[in-house]
Amino acid sequence: MSDLKVLIVDDEPGIRSGISRILRNYRVGYPFLEEDFGFTLTEAETGEIALEILEKQEIDIVLLDNKLPGMEGIDVLEQINKRNYDTAVMMITSYASLELAVTATKRGAYNFVPKPFTPEELRGAIESITKHLFLKRMTKKMSETARQIRFQFLSVLSHELKSPINAIEGYLKIMQEKQAGTSIDDYMHMINRSIERITGMRSLIMDMLDLTRIENGTKSRNLKEVDIIECTKMAISSMEPMAIQKNIKILTAFPESLILTADSNEVEIICNNLISNAIKYNRDNGTVTVSIFTDKTNLNIIVEDTGIGINAEEQEFLFQEFMRIKNKKTQNISGSGLGLSIVKKIIELYNGTITVESQPDVGTKFIVKIPFKAQPA
Ligand SMILES: Nc1ncnc2c1ncn2[C@@H]1O[C@H](COP(=O)(O)OP(=O)(O)OP(=O)(O)O)[C@@H](O)[C@H]1O
Ligand SMILES: [Mg+2]
Repeated sequence: MSDLKVLIVDDEPGIRSGISRILRNYRVGYPFLEEDFGFTLTEAETGEIALEILEKQEIDIVLLDNKLPGMEGIDVLEQINKRNYDTAVMMITSYASLELAVTATKRGAYNFVPKPFTPEELRGAIESITKHLFLKRMTKKMSETARQIRFQFLSVLSHELKSPINAIEGYLKIMQEKQAGTSIDDYMHMINRSIERITGMRSLIMDMLDLTRIENGTKSRNLKEVDIIECTKMAISSMEPMAIQKNIKILTAFPESLILTADSNEVEIICNNLISNAIKYNRDNGTVTVSIFTDKTNLNIIVEDTGIGINAEEQEFLFQEFMRIKNKKTQNISGSGLGLSIVKKIIELYNGTITVESQPDVGTKFIVKIPFKAQPA
């Protein structure tokens, strides 16, 4: 249960204890929330005492009488407003005039409860103020997270794009000034390097778009019966050129075909990333083994390599966005650190899991488990 702190500001002890009694065991719940809200009560007999309490404690809801012995409720409200407390105020008063209501609203009161009120009226008002407070805080939190993600997105994107753009600009300037000769052949390696850099930039942008689409649920998915083995073979063949460069053998252990309801692109993204990592972070002449099999409940995809490995501490953060392990062994390997976070998000779309087992300088094994209902024979 979440606990909301309520401050009752009223000079009449009877009212304070009445409100306490009504709210003490009251709970507010919403269908969209797992937890109910309960209330802890604090009392103040004057506005001055109320402000002192507010200064020292975090109070969620203030029930504020207007007619108080010293400063009036409406002036307490003004102070609360000025000091920017994260609190919702409900005015309670027996002399409710339109003018007072208008001023109170202007000063940020959430609502008004005229005295005398029945327990039901008070509970109704508390229910509504609780919902208001919850939604207000939730919205604030969500916009903060969205801002942070946008910021991180833009800073990584600009950082990662800067160096290929500089490289291509450099090559173009050399060509513009014909520094390496007059024939186009003199520049072929620069043209090839530029194309490589552009390919890298495109794949980074695509990765980031994929990630954003998965995150906000707008990724279009094409779920149908697909042959997982065929998808895996596609991924392997697109990774082969990379493996050849390091003389890495890709071994496979899987049945001839394995039909499952899935999006073939997503299966390829999973395999592409795991296999490309297994090659990239492998040693020369190493091996990569891709095994696929089903057990009673899961489709298992296991990609194992004989590479640099990942130590236990680093394994913890592996699936975070932009996570790249920086050390001597990885310093010449390029990547955005997005691959595994995309893989994990996709696997979660299938209610599956991905785990890693690894030993530095021995090798790494990624294990994907995707639950499936036994396909009818
Ligand atoms: N098989 C592996 N062996 C050793 N380290 C790995 C392996 N796979 C991933 N890592 C480590 O985890 C980090 C994150 O991997 P991830 O695939 O998310 O990003 P990346 O390969 O750096 O970039 P990208 O896949 O976006 O091109 C890598 O930078 C690498 O340090
Ligand atoms: Mg990767």
